[in-house]
Amino acid sequence: MSYETISVDIDGDGVALVTIDLPDQSMNVWNEALMREFAAFIDDFVANDAMKGAVITSGKASGFLAGADLRMLGGSQAETMKEAFENAFKLNAALRKLETGGHPAKKLQKGEAHAKPVAAAVNGLALGGGLELVLACHHRVVADNPKIQLGVPEVQVGLLPGGGGTQRLPRLAGLQNAAMMATQGKPIDPATALAQGIVQEVVPAGEVVAKAKAWVKANPKTVQPWDKKGFKFPGGGGAMDPRAVQFFIGANAMAQKTTQHNYPAVQAILSCLYEGSIAPFDTAIRIESKYFTKLLSDPTSKNMIRTLFINKQAAEKGEQRPKDVPSAELKKVGVLGAGMMGAGIAYVTAKGGAQVVLLDRDMEYAEKGKAYSQGIVEKGVSKGKVTKEKGEELLARITPTTDYNDLKDVDLIIEAVFEDPDIKADVIKKTEAVIGKDVIFASNTSTLPITGLAKHSERPDQFIGIHFFSPVDKMPLVEIIPGGASGEKSLATALDYVRMIKKTPIVVKDTRGFYTNRVVPPYINESMLLVTEGVKPALIENAAKALGMPVGPLALCDETSQELGLRIATATAKETGVDPSGEPVYQLLKTFVERLGRKGRKSGGGFYDYPEGGKKHLWQGLSEHYPLAEEQPSLEEVKERLLYAQLIPAAECYADGIVSDPQSADLGAIFGWGFAPWTGGPMSHIDTIGVETFVRKAESLAQKYGSRFNPPEKFRDMAKTGETLYKAA
Ligand code: NAI
Repeated sequence: MSYETISVDIDGDGVALVTIDLPDQSMNVWNEALMREFAAFIDDFVANDAMKGAVITSGKASGFLAGADLRMLGGSQAETMKEAFENAFKLNAALRKLETGGHPAKKLQKGEAHAKPVAAAVNGLALGGGLELVLACHHRVVADNPKIQLGVPEVQVGLLPGGGGTQRLPRLAGLQNAAMMATQGKPIDPATALAQGIVQEVVPAGEVVAKAKAWVKANPKTVQPWDKKGFKFPGGGGAMDPRAVQFFIGANAMAQKTTQHNYPAVQAILSCLYEGSIAPFDTAIRIESKYFTKLLSDPTSKNMIRTLFINKQAAEKGEQRPKDVPSAELKKVGVLGAGMMGAGIAYVTAKGGAQVVLLDRDMEYAEKGKAYSQGIVEKGVSKGKVTKEKGEELLARITPTTDYNDLKDVDLIIEAVFEDPDIKADVIKKTEAVIGKDVIFASNTSTLPITGLAKHSERPDQFIGIHFFSPVDKMPLVEIIPGGASGEKSLATALDYVRMIKKTPIVVKDTRGFYTNRVVPPYINESMLLVTEGVKPALIENAAKALGMPVGPLALCDETSQELGLRIATATAKETGVDPSGEPVYQLLKTFVERLGRKGRKSGGGFYDYPEGGKKHLWQGLSEHYPLAEEQPSLEEVKERLLYAQLIPAAECYADGIVSDPQSADLGAIFGWGFAPWTGGPMSHIDTIGVETFVRKAESLAQKYGSRFNPPEKFRDMAKTGETLYKAA
């Protein structure tokens, strides 16, 4: 038989070497072609006496197999649940046939060694359905390389390992290890997998196939442990074993605490572990496929797959990049200003592989900026995340300076000096006097319009905004802001740069606050308004966490600082001419900064106290200044206000074209300020609840709490015509 995705090479002893190698793809994944051909191979394998056993390996240097092509899952359009189940069960059915040699297990004498031996020769990462294929083999040999990732990350896109992973993992490694791997989605290395009993051999990379073959030849008939009579879960399983009971009680409680009931996949995985552990294996995999089907039809997984996987990758690959501009080679980047942002930008740029000229007005500052990278590198080396050599190479790429002449051969400039238009103007002039004529100049300004700054440039078409978030080395999002005169090359270069530093870009319009900084302040303000109304701070913070936000808005306010909040409010008042003194939030900020000296986390605390060496906790003195209301709102009410305080400004940004599409609005929200990932982002969430429901809810909130909750006109129109955001996109 001939296949396109696999090759089958039978040796003189009848051992088939099956090499998975998808044509025109850099990585092996389960796609429709591989599913079809692999199933056909299994049919042939169990029926064909010429094949005595098999070794499964990969023809890709990039790894063994990286899971299912999520596009295939996202596009599955089953008409009925039954059909959806049958689709979901295909991989399980095929792998079960492989491990039982096509014999229905229940008809066999338990323990009878009946299957032809199959071993996996794993030369690189095996994730999701890739690892599940490995688990279905009777013997698993992995290359001895600590960088190889073995894991089931499906939970990260709202799914569960649906190729038997929730059943074979606990039977090999115990419930606890299986739950850790499947509910957190974090991979383990070969040594850990060996210690947990998930694989049997870790050998030098060049020997995986030979060792796997040797095992197959030494074991002409075999059976999986779970098909043997008297099989027991390592560490206990089932409904009666006190160890398993204890585990399920603890695991469920912990799962609800961390997911706040927002991630159905976590619950489903625990259900698979429990139900699967009290059922025979053939039933257990059907249980798994049932839960998998259910998750696949849940909007949570669809939204997560779309935003966190498909759209994120598209953005990172340059979806918004002008296609005709040749890609920029960024060997050397000039970073102006070595303060908090410049230092971080220098680090991520050097990490991306480019040389960095880090310029400040004073050598001491420039060197301090480089020392920031040194700190990160040293920490990485001590934790074993990076080798000493690689760390040193990275540091050697950063050259601190005060001399503009050092910028003469850079390929890109990123400016992060003080947020002062005059200083920026001066720096632009001095830089343009030395850099090449076609070099793109990017500013990291957070508030100054790019179009205005570009007026100080001799080449406004080569001027653009690249807006990072703090801390730069941790925050995944970057906003790209073309100014009025920015040309295509500046946009293309900015996107090439973001790709080089492996962050996620969105392209936004040149307006005050760009996208994320237009949405976050109203959200934080709503939480402060709740404080002024006498709502318990713990209720506010917990409501946000229940929504799925990583931290509460009051903690976020402490981070960005009350001081900055007051400065922005004062500047906005000056600009708009509207007197803020009647605004409760403005008064609260003034009280915090001027009267209480609680200016933010870094200077005296804020809504929280930060005891040295201890854990932060809500400031006990708050109620003296903002007495608690006798009647507290419900958790649902607070959740709704905090949610809509983000949905409305995000929707406004989309309606006003500040972000041009729902994809960018969703990516910016999740990766910019941690908007609840389970929703897939604010636009996905509005689509999921329905635009009409969103509009109605917003209007009712506006009636109750004020016009800030009024939905944008565009959304009212969409509600009338029944349009959805993603259909429109
Ligand atoms: P910073 O005050 O920590 O650093 C500014 C650096 O620029 C200092 O090291 C200073 O010595 C240097 N500098 C000032 N004038 C200079 C000149 N004429 N020539 C060379 N170097 C000069 O400020 P930060 O926070 O790093 O902000 C820098 C820029 O990044 C600002 O435009 C800010 O709006 C923007 N930004 C800040 C964010 C934040 O969270 N802090 C987030 C995103 C953007």
